[in-house]
Amino acid sequence: MTLATNALHLEDTPLLRALRDSIAMLARAHHHRDPFTCHHQERVGRLAASIGALMGLRPLRLKILHLAAIVHDIGKLGVPAEIIGKPGKLSDAEYSLVQTHCDIGHDILMQLRAPFPIAEIVHQHHERIDGSGYPRGLRGIAILEEARILAVADTYDAMSSYRPYRAPLSEDFVLGELHKMAGHLLDPGAVDACVRHVLSGTTAHPATAALVDAPVNQVS
Ligand SMILES: [Fe+2]
Repeated sequence: MTLATNALHLEDTPLLRALRDSIAMLARAHHHRDPFTCHHQERVGRLAASIGALMGLRPLRLKILHLAAIVHDIGKLGVPAEIIGKPGKLSDAEYSLVQTHCDIGHDILMQLRAPFPIAEIVHQHHERIDGSGYPRGLRGIAILEEARILAVADTYDAMSSYRPYRAPLSEDFVLGELHKMAGHLLDPGAVDACVRHVLSGTTAHPATAALVDAPVNQVS
């Protein structure tokens, strides 16, 4: 890739502007169908970018990570709405249907034909370090670093936010759970960066300020 990686010029790259606008359009369309999931994606996008910044990712990779994160569950458009919003426990058959969202998201985002691994990051966001994830059971560094970061941000937000079937879990409990998952399910470096970011009390790492756009899911 020969694109400039200077943060100040990222938004001046026509290809990146077009990509950002396409992703924003997808996210906005998704918001009309499922605002709950889209607010989750916005929070995960901000957290993933901050984790990536603490791990030293360069601005262009941070931008791509953020764009992937704000549509990481776009494949849920292909899952029946009554299953996505079901308040109770899912049956095995329903859970299998939910799991297809990684393949569906990959299929949707491949249409961008972007020279960045956005579709691949989204495809891998439920893979786990020990190979126990889905859809392909990838292990360790076979999982893109951006996808390993996204998995940590996604897991943190899923536990710390309201779900139809339970109240938000406490910060102490969530950080403790992340520590337990580090090394076998989640990338330990990404968990460490996530914990440091959360404990810092800041909403976003300063390095992400120029990269993370205003929320694209807000429908006025
Ligand atoms: Fe997901």
